[in-house]
Amino acid sequence: MRETGASSLPRWATLKDACAIRDLRQLSRRRLPRAVFDYIDGGAEDETALRDNEDAFLDWHLVHRIAVDVAERSHKVTLLGREQALPLVFSPTGLTGFYHPNGEILAARAAGRSGVPYTLSTMSVASIEEVARGAAETDLWFQLYGLRDRDWMHGLVARARDAGYRVLCVTLDLPVSGRRERDVHNRFTMPLRPSLANLLDLACHPGWSLGVMRSPPRFGNFENADTQGFTNIAQRIAGSFDASLHWGDVQRLREMWPGPMAIKGVMHPEDAERAVAIGAEAILVSNHGGRQLDHSPAPLTMLPEIAQAVGRRAELIVDGGVRRGTDILKAAALGATACSVGRPFLWGLTAGGQAGAEKAIAMLRHELDVAMTLLGVATLGAVGRDHVRPVARRTRV
Ligand SMILES: Cc1cc2nc3c(=O)[nH]c(=O)nc-3n(C[C@H](O)[C@H](O)[C@H](O)COP(=O)(O)O)c2cc1C
Repeated sequence: MRETGASSLPRWATLKDACAIRDLRQLSRRRLPRAVFDYIDGGAEDETALRDNEDAFLDWHLVHRIAVDVAERSHKVTLLGREQALPLVFSPTGLTGFYHPNGEILAARAAGRSGVPYTLSTMSVASIEEVARGAAETDLWFQLYGLRDRDWMHGLVARARDAGYRVLCVTLDLPVSGRRERDVHNRFTMPLRPSLANLLDLACHPGWSLGVMRSPPRFGNFENADTQGFTNIAQRIAGSFDASLHWGDVQRLREMWPGPMAIKGVMHPEDAERAVAIGAEAILVSNHGGRQLDHSPAPLTMLPEIAQAVGRRAELIVDGGVRRGTDILKAAALGATACSVGRPFLWGLTAGGQAGAEKAIAMLRHELDVAMTLLGVATLGAVGRDHVRPVARRTRV
């Protein structure tokens, strides 16, 4: 988390005392076993991409205008043809139901109550159908990974379509899983390997451990696959990412999916153009939250180039490092229609269930509202390039 303004929550603090995303992170750290917290919090190798994702927002100043009538404000945006309350999307996060019992359904409900879309990961604990039933009011997107078993992959797309998911989000930055060294140190595996350290860790977090015992993790979208049993399925999945996936495969998915399609993991303007050329309506400028290629630039850094390349032909969503309402305004000023958040809602969810995930979004909404008022913009459409200036010289703290 950005070093500036570290959380100073007292030990006895609860969800109601949290006033910023960093506080939710602090509460999450206290509630979760270390290996689980680190799996959510960590990034690849030296975590430079992870840090840069957040720090990139410090590269821009916001320049306010005065004497603008901002007494009435709206945070609404239209994203992929649907009006929503805020310029936010819940990013897909695998194993969410492992971090918190029923995590996917509770997070999807939180998204629905906050008026923003929820993206279900291929690697969810709850299945495509369970989440569709459990959060029927939410604008649901389905995230697809490239899988070696093309029949299974295409079957997931058909299931998402039949269950009523509106948007297909294809993640293309995971031909293989990034090397996350916190997980190596913690021996974080699925299922958790019963080492002495892990057992002690679990014993020190009885609230979380009891929850997992009551609802053991599974991979809801892979049940009935040819291999049964959690460990077997986990092994099968670990080997199932397909490094040979190419634009031809994406084209095929485009043909299969009747609704809007988003491509996630785009960092280069030429890839953005390619995505538009095959018919993607949205691009998630993303480096997977710094969990894949270390030393990748931050999504915000690449946004202006990508915005210039695609113009109005696709909607741009900045995914990664968003922790403040001012971050959302900076992304809007540089050409994004919306931002997508992963860890912020996971910290909220693990700190306090559905209420915690809702609180994460409420905090961002409140900060966005105050920042819009102070910036002198009544709508997000009024935010433009002239509201930001690059920071001349940034001293890292
Ligand atoms: C614990 C965790 C699990 C994730 N699982 C997935 C996934 O299954 N599919 C995917 O496309 N991205 C996944 N991501 C990446 C997020 O979708 C998103 O790109 C990232 O969290 C954005 O950065 P932020 O956490 O700083 O908001 C995951 C991220 C985290 C933290």
